Amino acid sequence: MKKILIPVDSSEFSERAIEEGKKMAKAFGSEVVLLHIVGLKIPPMITMRFSATVPQGRPVDSYEDHEKKDASDMLTAYKESFGDMKDKVETKVIHGIVADEILKIINNTDVDLVIMGSHGIGSTLYRTLLGSVANKVVHHSKKPVLVIK
Ligand SMILES: Nc1ncnc2c1ncn2[C@@H]1O[C@H](COP(=O)(O)OP(=O)(O)OP(=O)(O)O)[C@@H](O)[C@H]1O
Ligand SMILES: [Mg+2]
Repeated sequence: MKKILIPVDSSEFSERAIEEGKKMAKAFGSEVVLLHIVGLKIPPMITMRFSATVPQGRPVDSYEDHEKKDASDMLTAYKESFGDMKDKVETKVIHGIVADEILKIINNTDVDLVIMGSHGIGSTLYRTLLGSVANKVVHHSKKPVLVIK
């Protein structure tokens, strides 16, 4: 088990996945990749690029840069929490369709195990068996996925 991928969305669920990942990485001497996907913007955000009504008219690209910076700060903080194991932790921020980008990393790179939450920061009112990202990843991953509840 050389490389463990932990997709992170800042939820308690993905924090639990990180805690599980620490135990596994310690036991197996694995490298860890902490991954966050900055999702594609829904149309109302994209229209801001052309909107005269948005104060200071910040283009959508700049929102994405902002989000990427926030995501990278979040992952760095999680990396620090690995303490003396942190040198084995890599952080990655990618922009795109969340489940698809996670699956590309799983299926096209040398990841041996995925640890992720059953749910994330999505709706807490109605909990399905799995969140939509977890569901798609579990269905299409060619590597083992450990889902943390
Ligand atoms: N943007 C993201 N980048 C990286 N990992 C993510 C991202 N979103 C979700 N995940 C991973 O997927 C797990 C399950 O989250 P998911 O998004 O499926 O549930 P949800 O947010 O409750 O539901 P939904 O998004 O369908 O409303 C999270 O605990 C996290 O490990
Ligand atoms: Mg979600």
